[in-house]
Amino acid sequence: MLDLKITKRKDLKPKPADESKLGFGRIFTDHMFIMNYTEGIGWHDPRIVPYGPFELEPSCMVFHYAQEMFEGLKAYRAADNSILLFRPQKNIERMNRTNRRICIPEVNPDDALQAIMELVKLERDWVPHSEGTSLYIRPFIFATDPQLGVHPSKTYIFAIILSPVGSYYPEGINPVKILVETEYVRAVRGGTGFAKVGGNYAASLIAQAEAERLGFAQVLWLDGIEHKYIDEVGSMNVFFVIDGEIITPSLDQGNILPGITRSSCIELLRSWGYTVTERKLALSEVIEAYRNGKLDEAFGTGTAAVISPIGELVSGDDRLVIGDNKIGPVAQKLYDTLTGIQWGRIKGFEGWVVKVC
Ligand code: COI
Repeated sequence: MLDLKITKRKDLKPKPADESKLGFGRIFTDHMFIMNYTEGIGWHDPRIVPYGPFELEPSCMVFHYAQEMFEGLKAYRAADNSILLFRPQKNIERMNRTNRRICIPEVNPDDALQAIMELVKLERDWVPHSEGTSLYIRPFIFATDPQLGVHPSKTYIFAIILSPVGSYYPEGINPVKILVETEYVRAVRGGTGFAKVGGNYAASLIAQAEAERLGFAQVLWLDGIEHKYIDEVGSMNVFFVIDGEIITPSLDQGNILPGITRSSCIELLRSWGYTVTERKLALSEVIEAYRNGKLDEAFGTGTAAVISPIGELVSGDDRLVIGDNKIGPVAQKLYDTLTGIQWGRIKGFEGWVVKVC
């Protein structure tokens, strides 16, 4: 149990007046959580303080060697005004898997959950009210040793910040256009693809920027070895409905982010009797299915993106217009059910929803 010190700010910021203009991750709440790590002592000094800048040495290791990780989850306002989290323990498990990969000391899962719950409880008035909005929770840890040798840091900061958000894509639940990336790769076997580290996203920016310039929402990454198999989209996992079967790339190569929305969708779909197959899926197979009229749907899943139908997939000269560029029945059912569970309208599986207050 954390002995959490809370310092409240006196001058609370005004809450966003127009929740339809929230966008994603641009506004931050009044307070944040911070805890320090020092080798030989462990994690210490957990506290909630006014949201504000960190003071760091220019030699701070994270600036040079990117020893940093982050997570993403959301708090939802239910109709009775209670505040709910969706499977937060899964984010904390993934946080520690990432920590192990990049030599950051693990955080006690109960302490991490307590920190999230206490911060969200303090900031409950920031959880927006409108349909489709939520409070995005961003836990992150970074290396703070002031030195330039390449070794794991001996000191860290674990922080949590909160941001009221609307939909990640301006398209909302409308289909997005995705470009298949043919030059750059996001992850290779043995690398950090499965981990939620900032470095993965830094490496993806060049492709993302080019895709945006060409009018696409994001890129679809292919595997880093043969450049043949589908991995994931920049901020979401992907699913394809081919001839009634739902296929998503398997996690066994360690190059795909194990999304919590991804696994929740698989569980829901299977409980509804759909066949869901996790396996290697070649891009050529998707194109072939499209040509044969068997590609029924494609959609992405993610905490930020929720369920995002893919209306157009472009790979070189191949332009796949999927499901008439409209949301398909599988994506719609998943969206309705998942958001229904998250906002407390539908009962999910045991333990999926955790009430904060
Ligand atoms: C999330 O879905 O929470 C993510 O972390 C994606 C993010 C990079 C915007």
